[in-house]
Amino acid sequence: MNSPERFSSIADANTPNAGRIYDYLLGGNHNFEIDRIAAEGLLKVAPFMPNLFKLIRWFLGEVVRRLSNEGYMIFIDFASGLPTVDHIHQITPEGTKVVYSDIDPVVVAYAKEIIKDLQNVRYLHCDAAKPEEVLDSPVVRELLGDDRKVVIGFNGIAYFLPDDAVKHFMETTFQWVGKGSRLFFCDADATSAPPEKARKIMEIYKNMNQPLFPRSRETMKKLIGPWEVEEPGFKLLEEWVDIKTNVTDYVQKEWEGQGFYGAILKK
Ligand SMILES: C[S@@+](CC[C@H](N)C(=O)[O-])C[C@H]1O[C@@H](n2cnc3c(N)ncnc32)[C@H](O)[C@@H]1O
Repeated sequence: MNSPERFSSIADANTPNAGRIYDYLLGGNHNFEIDRIAAEGLLKVAPFMPNLFKLIRWFLGEVVRRLSNEGYMIFIDFASGLPTVDHIHQITPEGTKVVYSDIDPVVVAYAKEIIKDLQNVRYLHCDAAKPEEVLDSPVVRELLGDDRKVVIGFNGIAYFLPDDAVKHFMETTFQWVGKGSRLFFCDADATSAPPEKARKIMEIYKNMNQPLFPRSRETMKKLIGPWEVEEPGFKLLEEWVDIKTNVTDYVQKEWEGQGFYGAILKK
């Protein structure tokens, strides 16, 4: 059986969950009624959300393919969501090693089921605020040995973490990886005191114990710390994937920010 009921014992069926809402809005079926109701509520105040989630995944695809073509064979990904819909191991050549992780125990349980027959893919439970739990895990040691030339994924998660957690993530991963490694991420460029419509979205996320931490691009530039920004720099997700959507217009109008952007960093 591969249905939500299977994992109901570890899911809080009374609380909607950000990861499963993401799945629902991407068109997936790994979600509960409570998630679908919350997602429909979100759509009323933020009709651009389905496009945003697709952009986040397309950006991941664009960057992963680029880096894979450059020869990177190890990806360590945080806040991965489900390893479906063109996720890393599905778009990289055979032999690529991928370690996914997420904080949501239901996502982790499903994900382990999905990847269980894949030799070079692992899925761990981890709060991205503590990346050392993945990096120093026996699973990573067993899969990678001493290999440290890696790509770190931090995609679609920065706005779920306060500034000090993002800073800790950046410093910890930088210290752990070898020279030449890369890190990719995306975040929203928004004011930390957003206008009314955006505050409603923040309230919905807060009510599901997933508060949002909007920040400006300038603040993020300070948090990436020791990592260097690689060309082409901080660019809108729409520019990365060369597709125009309604996302940037909405964010500019309602969040007083420039829109969702992504970047590749290097050590
Ligand atoms: C927008 S999805 C990002 C999916 C994926 N990274 C991508 O690029 O398509 C956000 C995911 O972050 C997870 N998440 C939220 N807070 C987290 C945290 N503190 N640590 C790890 N994962 C977290 C959620 O469970 C959800 O699966």
